[in-house]
Amino acid sequence: MTSRELIEAERTYLMSTFNRLPVTLVEGRGALVRDDAGREYVDLVAGIAVNLLGHAHPAVARAVAEQAGRLIHTSNLYYTEPQVRLARRLVELSFPSRVFFTNSGAESNEAAIKIARKWGKRHRGGAYEIITAEGSFHGRTLATVTATGQPRYAEPFAPLPQGFVHVPYGDLDAIRRATGERTAAVMLEPVMGEIGVVPPPDGYLEGVRAWCDEQNLLFILDEIQTGLGRTGRWFAHQHHGITPDVMTLAKGLGGGVPIGACLAAPRADVLEPGDHGSTFGGNPLACTAALAVLEVVESEGLVGHAAEMGGVLGAVLRDLDGVGTVRGRGLMQAVVFEEPVAKRFQARCLEEGVIVNAVDERTVRTVPPLVITPAELERAAAGMRRARAGA
Ligand SMILES: Cc1ncc(COP(=O)(O)O)c(C=O)c1O
Repeated sequence: MTSRELIEAERTYLMSTFNRLPVTLVEGRGALVRDDAGREYVDLVAGIAVNLLGHAHPAVARAVAEQAGRLIHTSNLYYTEPQVRLARRLVELSFPSRVFFTNSGAESNEAAIKIARKWGKRHRGGAYEIITAEGSFHGRTLATVTATGQPRYAEPFAPLPQGFVHVPYGDLDAIRRATGERTAAVMLEPVMGEIGVVPPPDGYLEGVRAWCDEQNLLFILDEIQTGLGRTGRWFAHQHHGITPDVMTLAKGLGGGVPIGACLAAPRADVLEPGDHGSTFGGNPLACTAALAVLEVVESEGLVGHAAEMGGVLGAVLRDLDGVGTVRGRGLMQAVVFEEPVAKRFQARCLEEGVIVNAVDERTVRTVPPLVITPAELERAAAGMRRARAGA
């Protein structure tokens, strides 16, 4: 198919849920990706914080091919080793907990919401409300889109599930004021991603942890975008010396193969046989991919590398013309321009061989693969400078 034929067929056969950029990607290697005309781009989006090891990492490709040749799927009616090994590895890397596997971020958060509701019934006199942050993003299912603190995503689908209260991000007093008899949990992103990479103010997450302990609430951290090395620690909460009661993961976990996880500490580990399930969740193929990803992140020291490259990326963004603010942590950085040029900058970057993500009129997000090299960042920087000159 030519590009034009593809775009026309897409319009005919796919629901119009995405505003796609005018490029057809066909193959990649590491932080570089190519389109159908053979043009190469430095990929600073990485499938929206998904491809931790970039594109076509040989260790993941090999692991997936070998597992596909042996056993792709069994259902959760039986034991499979990759699932158990992956759960053990995630627990070792994070905090004492047990794992439920899913296929996406929204499903991981659905599991967390069900845990909070069951826990509230059992341990807080039937409490069911979850406090979340304005501007947050937790997914597109009915419950997670209601948890999401951006009404425009949820309103077309009313009536919405009950039990979600939104407060300004970073305001501990607002959480205190919103807490009542019905409150079961507080659910936050340790750095808000989708809205344009908003880190928490100093002491906020520590304060929320202490409040949840004092009030007997669950603290749920959505680490779907921040988890697995992206912020320069395995998990973003590790910057703060706290642990959540429930943590959700997805995105980077499978290096592009769909898989998510919900981890519950003993206090929150309330799900019993029959309470929850998933046909595909934790299947041998996805778990084998995730095991390969974690093994490479660890053996190649990519968590420390992400911290280091994050410093370089931040400096590159700060150096662009017309920048108001640059904010982020590790390889999760956003630039806010003084003028509303983000969309034009994104389009110009594409012409200059750099993939970035405009999240609103002024803000551009970059979440490159953890494997990105200084030379690739310099190449992206040169492309962004040229794009800025013309945007
Ligand atoms: C913090 C966060 N939570 C949840 C989600 C939803 O994940 P998914 O699209 O895999 O359902 C996202 C996706 O952008 C996210 O960034």
